[in-house]
Amino acid sequence: MKKQTFIRIATVAIAGAAATPIAAANLTLYCSAQEEWCQLMARGFEDATGINVDMTRKSSGETFAQVKAEEANPKGDVWWGGTGDPHLQAAEEELTEPYVSPMREQLHPWAIAQATSAGDRTIGIYSGALGYGYNTDLLAAENLSEPSCWKDLLKPEFKGHVQMANPNSSGTAYTTLATMVQLFGEDEGFEFMKGLHANINQYTKSGSAPIKAAALGETTIGIVFMHDAVAQAVAGFPITVVAPCEGTGYEIGSMSIIKGARNLDEAKQFYDWALSVEAQNLALQVNAFQVPSNIGAETSDKAPDLSSIKLIDYDFKKYGSSDERKRLLEKWDNEVSVLPQ
Ligand code: G6P
Repeated sequence: MKKQTFIRIATVAIAGAAATPIAAANLTLYCSAQEEWCQLMARGFEDATGINVDMTRKSSGETFAQVKAEEANPKGDVWWGGTGDPHLQAAEEELTEPYVSPMREQLHPWAIAQATSAGDRTIGIYSGALGYGYNTDLLAAENLSEPSCWKDLLKPEFKGHVQMANPNSSGTAYTTLATMVQLFGEDEGFEFMKGLHANINQYTKSGSAPIKAAALGETTIGIVFMHDAVAQAVAGFPITVVAPCEGTGYEIGSMSIIKGARNLDEAKQFYDWALSVEAQNLALQVNAFQVPSNIGAETSDKAPDLSSIKLIDYDFKKYGSSDERKRLLEKWDNEVSVLPQ
């Protein structure tokens, strides 16, 4: 073909394309699981469907606040990951959309229970138990005793050695607060949080940051979900994972479609895909050691074995309710975070 003809054809083709643009399908994803997993889920869905994904990672409490702030003019389509409590609060405040996925029958009962308790406005995608991890090298270097219970963290020797996230921004830290209230009763639970405050060196924004800091030797102990501590140990850092002796709480990591989603069809497509074995197995590529909600998805042999951990009967309905979450956070703000350290 002569060069001139080629240019003419190309020009006509471009002009034709401009006259009848094919709108690319898009999805705006709010993600509250760990960053690497969020990235992989976004790319995995793009590869599976050709739909472009615009993903932002923010902590669970922060994402709840954003979805609430955008209520009159929603910008997100799907909120994937993060602890279940703020997803339940969003459901109660009708910030999210009911949807019954055809994939639901493939899920564990705990994942479906999350949906039925919230009028189908959310659903369980993974679960994991709360605990903490410590840097064995730092512990030995500082001559500190090996902690194995929650109450060990109150010992004066751990002053300045413990890190956790802020329960307002982080679902992990809210789970910690709600766990103490359920484990010890409200008064004793708050006494525990006050005692712990005296030993805290920093409240981070994101839930898993404290164990990343422990891995790098920036804090000795990090209160996190146990699977986040396992991930650091698997990555080769000197981290010991603790399932506290008194028992502990757990999360049902959840997913919700945002009410008023601009890309509702794509949101449902993502939702169905995210519940599939194929999508849930992606977790293993990024050392996300939660227990997946699809019965057929693989759980790593490195994942904490929930059946061998003393779990409390976490009352998701109560601690994920709007009034209770607001009340506990306000009480923590007014009675714990203001205390001198
Ligand atoms: C980590 C955990 C997730 C959890 C999430 C909550 O990524 O691996 O299981 O759902 O934290 O994040 P947040 O920053 O809200 O505590």
